[in-house]
Amino acid sequence: MRIAVYPGSFDPMTKGHLDIIERGSKMFDKLVVAILVNSSKTPCFTTLERMEMIEESVKHLDNVQVEHFEGLLVHYMEKNNYKYVLRGLRALADFENEFQMASMNKKLYPEIEVVILMTNIKYSFISSTLIREIIKFGGDLKDMVPELVYKKIDQKYGRVNDEDNSAVK
Ligand code: PNS
Repeated sequence: MRIAVYPGSFDPMTKGHLDIIERGSKMFDKLVVAILVNSSKTPCFTTLERMEMIEESVKHLDNVQVEHFEGLLVHYMEKNNYKYVLRGLRALADFENEFQMASMNKKLYPEIEVVILMTNIKYSFISSTLIREIIKFGGDLKDMVPELVYKKIDQKYGRVNDEDNSAVK
């Protein structure tokens, strides 16, 4: 059984992420979306909120499951006997970082293979970092995040201003 891990911060999940998950789920028997829990950062959404948003958004895909991990990706993969990493590549600017991470992960855990999918051109300008900035200043995120994430952002932050929204970094 070919199991791939799609790791990321997903803070929050975007339509670009969902597109990679949908395409990746067709390539592997099982796809595990693995949320990085980084205790040194204050995320926009808690791990539980991120898990719920992803789980709801991938409900239509029966071979996708959501997990979370702390520490090194390779340790989490080794512990679970996962061998494939899936990542999306948006632009030339992503390449250097992805190449470095893939090479380092392979050095640390030679049995893994990193599979890179080119992001759908429609979503190539979307990043969680920009989404957080738009949330912070109350811009409209329609068409950039899955419907459910859009609702969750609205529930949690609504039309926000800088002062009310100090948790969004
Ligand atoms: O969505 P992101 O923030 O681009 O995802 C980055 C992520 C989570 C895949 C990467 O930071 C990661 O794997 N972090 C876990 C710690 C780790 O293994 N670091 C060494 C990477 S070479």
